[in-house]
Amino acid sequence: MLSRSTYIRRREAILEADRPSSGLLLLLGNESAAMNYRANPYPFRQDSTFLYYFGLDGPAVDGLIDLDSGEAQLYGDDPDLEDVIWMGERAPLRERAARAGVETTAPRSALSTDLATAIEAGRPIHFLPPYRDRQARRLEKLTGITADRTADYASIPFIQTVVQHRSVKSTEEIDQIETAVETTARLHRAAMRRAAPGRTEREVAGALSGIAESHGRGLSFRPTCSIRGEILHNHDYSRTMEDGDLLLVDAGATSPEHYAGDITRVVPVGGQFTTRQRVLYEAVLAAQTAAIEAVAPGVPFREVHLEACRVLTEHLMELGLMTGSVEAAVEAGAHALFFPHGLGHMMGLDVHDMENLGEERVGYADDQTRSEQFGLHTLRLARPLRTGFVVTVEPGCYFIPTLIERWRAEGRHDAFIDYEAVARYEGVGGIRIEDDVLVTNEGGQILGPDLPKRPDAVEDRAGSAS
Ligand code: GLY
Repeated sequence: MLSRSTYIRRREAILEADRPSSGLLLLLGNESAAMNYRANPYPFRQDSTFLYYFGLDGPAVDGLIDLDSGEAQLYGDDPDLEDVIWMGERAPLRERAARAGVETTAPRSALSTDLATAIEAGRPIHFLPPYRDRQARRLEKLTGITADRTADYASIPFIQTVVQHRSVKSTEEIDQIETAVETTARLHRAAMRRAAPGRTEREVAGALSGIAESHGRGLSFRPTCSIRGEILHNHDYSRTMEDGDLLLVDAGATSPEHYAGDITRVVPVGGQFTTRQRVLYEAVLAAQTAAIEAVAPGVPFREVHLEACRVLTEHLMELGLMTGSVEAAVEAGAHALFFPHGLGHMMGLDVHDMENLGEERVGYADDQTRSEQFGLHTLRLARPLRTGFVVTVEPGCYFIPTLIERWRAEGRHDAFIDYEAVARYEGVGGIRIEDDVLVTNEGGQILGPDLPKRPDAVEDRAGSAS
């Protein structure tokens, strides 16, 4: 856990914020979730907002904050003898709650009674949208709202307050993210060492998981580790690497307090890029460099995304894959054939930070609407940046056979795309380069240690021995 005073301060900030004006804030903790039978659960992952305000990292504890009295209370049960025999000792809830500065605790069953009393007294209950079925069913039981409607009744002011708090990272949080990114860099060095002809993607993916477990709290998401890097979230590790392939690894580790890291690197399996691979790699790197340079407080991330699109398009035009005016091509969305996703997302306790609260609420300002244009429609973060935000910057360039075929057949954007030239690059797969960037008053600061990124350094696997 972080320090007791941190959790107290965070809950005090709720009381001082533009939060719901009265009633009870209900923060459900997560429960253990069965993988294939109850005694074989998925690794436990606490709800991130519950972690943020209460810090308790075990299943089946819920929190309540009374907006009128300012009191916080935790509901949970102490382990019984069976729990202790199978899972070991655990401190009583009262003791764990005290570490988060919460003085009042009660058995978990008391939560429904206390909420029923509050509802009867006409007090509003404010909750966040559920993202697990189990949470929706618990909310139904606790509030009487049908499970499949609970998300519709989630409290907008509560969501806004949480987003406001969690978006700006404190020094303590940045230290945690740095730790996560350091472990993430270890994963990538290990992947670079293992990217060799005859080895399998699975060998690399297995190593990532082992290192993340042994140096932190495991992975922050299921990695992409594939020579088919054009499949954006490729979780299939079934291929054997060959000379000439590019291995794309998009992976992240978590810090002791569950903060995420998220980095992508691409390495030539045989040690050297081909000419085509190298020029495309340089194009993506130029786009990423320009985007990181554009990061600054007050700059809408949508503009940073578009800057990356323009730089990538410029390079694709120099290579003959695209033609015409860069501005017009990007405005039309033609570049999205090669770069069909958004430039990045917020990162913190979640790798896509707070995405469970709604992408628009986290990533878009009130006066911004999400574009429906292909490519831009997946931009998760568009709002003006603020000092203390941590974001990923991850442009890519992909040759996705089905997408190319579809667009070519439709003649889509054929004023900007030379499909004959594109055909010559098919098979390159996908290239993405990603770093985690802290927004400071001076601009974007890449977090974590140096990790090979320039093409020569990637070919040399420079620094991957450490
Ligand atoms: N790097 C994983 C993701 O952004 O989804």
